[in-house]
Amino acid sequence: MADLPAREALATEICGIPLDGPVLNGSGTFDVLAARQVFGDVLIDEFPFDCYVSKTITMNPRPGNPPYRLWETPSGMINSIGLPGPGLDGFVNRDLRLLASLEVPLIVSVMADCIEDFVVLVERVAAEDAVDGIELNVSCPNVHSGLIVGEQPAETEALLKALRPLTAKPLIVKLTPNVANPHEVAMGAEAGGADAVSMINTVKAAAIDPQTSRPWLGAGAGGLSGPAVRPIALAQVRAVSAAIEIPIIGMGGITDAESALEFILAGARVIAVGTENFRDPKAGTAVTEGLPAALARRGFGSLAEAQAVTLA
Ligand SMILES: Cc1cc2nc3c(=O)[nH]c(=O)nc-3n(C[C@H](O)[C@H](O)[C@H](O)COP(=O)(O)O)c2cc1C
Repeated sequence: MADLPAREALATEICGIPLDGPVLNGSGTFDVLAARQVFGDVLIDEFPFDCYVSKTITMNPRPGNPPYRLWETPSGMINSIGLPGPGLDGFVNRDLRLLASLEVPLIVSVMADCIEDFVVLVERVAAEDAVDGIELNVSCPNVHSGLIVGEQPAETEALLKALRPLTAKPLIVKLTPNVANPHEVAMGAEAGGADAVSMINTVKAAAIDPQTSRPWLGAGAGGLSGPAVRPIALAQVRAVSAAIEIPIIGMGGITDAESALEFILAGARVIAVGTENFRDPKAGTAVTEGLPAALARRGFGSLAEAQAVTLA
């Protein structure tokens, strides 16, 4: 086994944003405001991630989907949370103040159902000094075409072409796994000027209530996440990384350093921990702490060496 790489050997970057390490959180899976209420400042002071990604924000406040919103599956979870949130004003005037005090870079996730609203969201969020990058959640149907933007390479490209001139800050497209050829959507994002893609979002899924024989989730269906989706995510990261030059933020069922490293070897530059945060809010820290040994076990002296395997 190679010598254990030092903590500094995990330093990296995404879209020019310097990072102490490669561990982000998946949007919507780690609520800083709730964590502070429950755990006090402990989790903020020893923050589990090298970069924080906000939950997805929308133009107007949203109540989210009707209950039930969660269903546990073997090795996974189905959620139909439905993006509850304070809307753009509430986010910028309240939530962003706390997020700005975090000592790691900040990526804000936004979603809209038309290009016009995406323009407003991106302009307003990009104008905030505290924001280092913007993630575009493209899982919503476009009100004009009825098509889900992130399922259509041409719609994804058109959205990016409209947003790219608005800011020099990194634009990251969050890819859905619910398409036959995710690499085509990734190519559309890249052609439109995206700086990175993040993947995967949740996999379409449903559960039946054992008592009523009706769908368990209030919304009828939801999205599967957790270790159950990891092999799907790894296959998609490999396919996308072969098709584009821009970097990938890889996620989908990461639970520990070994599974995080699998994503790096599949072609991701950095990784994100999602569902595992609900089981262990310090999961991000555990991934970071396990990475030197995981790298050494595979003969790597640094994260960069593992990243280079797929960059070569
Ligand atoms: C409860 C929950 C809420 C989520 N909310 C969002 C969200 O607001 N925006 C988004 O882009 N993805 C959201 N996701 C998807 C995650 O960011 C991630 O892409 C997905 O869960 C796969 O990673 P995982 O298996 O590690 O959870 C959510 C996932 C879960 C489980």
